[in-house]
Amino acid sequence: MTGHDDHPPVRLRRNRDNRHIRELTRAARPHPEQFIQPLFAVEGLAAREAVPGLADVWRDTPSSLLAQVEADLGRGISKFLLFGVPGEKRDRQFSHAWTSARLADLKARFGADVWVAADVCLCSYTSHGHCGILTDDRSHLDNDVTVAALADAALQFAQAGADCVAPSDMQDGRVAAIRAALDRAGLERRALMSYAAKFHSAFYGPFRVAADSAPDRSGALQDRASYQIDPGRPDDALLAAQRDAAEGADILMVKPGLPYLDVLARLSAAIPLPFAVYQTSGEQAGIDLTAAQGLADPARAQVETWTAFVRAGARMIVSYAARRAPLYLAREPARP
Ligand code: PBG
Ligand code: ZN
Repeated sequence: MTGHDDHPPVRLRRNRDNRHIRELTRAARPHPEQFIQPLFAVEGLAAREAVPGLADVWRDTPSSLLAQVEADLGRGISKFLLFGVPGEKRDRQFSHAWTSARLADLKARFGADVWVAADVCLCSYTSHGHCGILTDDRSHLDNDVTVAALADAALQFAQAGADCVAPSDMQDGRVAAIRAALDRAGLERRALMSYAAKFHSAFYGPFRVAADSAPDRSGALQDRASYQIDPGRPDDALLAAQRDAAEGADILMVKPGLPYLDVLARLSAAIPLPFAVYQTSGEQAGIDLTAAQGLADPARAQVETWTAFVRAGARMIVSYAARRAPLYLAREPARP
C-alpha cells in the first residue's frame, strides 16, 4: 500500500532515528547487574597463566585470584562462578580441599560484597577428564556413584562459603541429591543453579585447557556424548529442565548460548524459574580471536550476543567477558 503522494505510510525508521528514540524503544537491554564472571583457580602454578583463545581470562593462583576479584569489584562485577582445578587427579575419593580453600579465601576477604557460585563437577579432578566415576569396564559413567560424589563436593563447597552450587556434570538425580545434602547440613539458604540444558558441544575447547578437563581419548569412553544432551534433541533439554525444577533447582541454565537460543526461548517461556545462559569458551574465542584479527568490533559483537540472550529470555549471563560488560554497556555516543 502506498501513502499520500506515493510516500510510505509506515516509516519504521522514525524509531531508529537517534540515540534517544532507540533507547526509549529498545525491548531487550542487557545490564551489568546480570553478569556472572567465571574464574579458574589452579593448584601448583608459580604465576597466573592466560587461557588460549580468551582475552583477559586467567588460570589464577590463590593470590592472583583475590587480586582479580578485587579489580572486578572495582569495575562493578560482583557475581562469580569458580572452577577449582586441583593438582592431583584421582579416579574416586576426591579431595575438595583446594577448591574449598579458594572459596573460603574469597568469602573471608570480600564477604557479602561478592556472590560466588561453585561449579560442581569432577572432570577437573579425574585422571581421565570425564565428569564422574567410570564403571568397572570404563565404558560409561556410573550415574549413582557419581551423584553421591557430587553431593559430597557440593556440601564441602557450601560449607566453605559458596553462595550457590552449580552442578555441570549432567548425571540424573544430582539436583535432588545435592539439595538434600545441603538441607541436612542446615545450608538451606544456599542456592542451586543447575546446568540443566547442557549440550554435547564443540564450543568448550578453551575451557578444557583452562580446567585440565579434556576427556582422555585413549580410553573406552571417548567423549561426553553419553551424558550431555544431543544437539538435535531439544525435548531432552525441556525434560531435563522440568526435572531439575521439580528437584528444587533455583536457577536453570542453557549452555552453550548462541547455538541454543531456540532452546533458551522455549524453556524460559515454559518454566517460570530464572534462566541463566552460559556463553561458553568456544563462543567467546570466536569473538576474541576475530576481534584480535581486526575483523569485528569486540564491544559491539559482545553486546549483540548478550542482547540476543536477554531477548531469548535469559535473566543472567555467564560470560568470560563479564568483566568488560560495564564498559561495553555504557551509553552509546550521542551521534546519530
Ligand atoms: C564441565 C564443564 C564445561 C563447562 C563448565 N563445566 C565444559 C565441558 O563439558 O567440558 C563450560 C565450558 C566452557 O566455557 O566452554 N563440567
Ligand atoms: Zn565436568
